[in-house]
Amino acid sequence: MVFEATEIVLKDGTRAVLRTPEESEAELMLDYAAGCSAESPYLNRTPDEWKGVTVESEVAWIRAHRDSGSMLLTCFQDGKVIGNISVSRTEKRKMAHRGLVGIAVRKAWWNKGVGSALFERIIEEAKKTDLEILDLALYSVNTRAKALYDKFGFVTVGETPYAFKMEDGKYISELLMQKYLKTFD
Ligand SMILES: CC(C)(COP(=O)(O)OP(=O)(O)OC[C@H]1O[C@@H](n2cnc3c(N)ncnc32)[C@H](O)[C@@H]1OP(=O)(O)O)[C@@H](O)C(=O)NCCC(=O)NCCS
Repeated sequence: MVFEATEIVLKDGTRAVLRTPEESEAELMLDYAAGCSAESPYLNRTPDEWKGVTVESEVAWIRAHRDSGSMLLTCFQDGKVIGNISVSRTEKRKMAHRGLVGIAVRKAWWNKGVGSALFERIIEEAKKTDLEILDLALYSVNTRAKALYDKFGFVTVGETPYAFKMEDGKYISELLMQKYLKTFD
């Protein structure tokens, strides 16, 4: 899906734009993703793992989201990518009512309302589709992300123990959360 640009005002009074990225912005998106991974231990790919991702595969990823029921919504400010949310859908029919959410904001913009603006818009857009459930997974110790997901009505539905093995050898469990876009019996 492709979302047209809308302007938002962040908590610090500055303006930013939300829209779906173009395939030609793949390098910008890769820089953003690698940057986020260096700023938080709670993203699955390490910065060196991002180095192995080619511009071509990022182009394909953007194209796949633009040309399907999946969604990419990116926050731009002054030509920089400062945040992104994705909702990835499968073509498998039995799971097509669910979309898997991924979100990250560059550290310099944390707590300025970017994550909230991305969620507000993506939930509004998701409600216009046949999506019934938004799924997400997070490191159980990621209290900042959990607070955001709680605020947008996600509920914890499970926990996978020992899901992540950190560089220091310690394990962190993974929380599974869902937001229901319709009422289930
Ligand atoms: C999690 C993340 C997406 C939040 O984005 P953000 O733009 O900072 O979010 P917002 O500013 O819209 O909202 C953050 C909320 O969390 C609250 N918060 C911040 N730090 C917190 C903490 N340690 N504990 C609890 N709440 C916290 C803020 O007060 C704010 O709540 P409010 O809107 O009610 O005031 C961002 O911090 C991020 O990208 N982190 C690193 C990557 C990551 O963890 N991604 C999620 C992977 S599952």
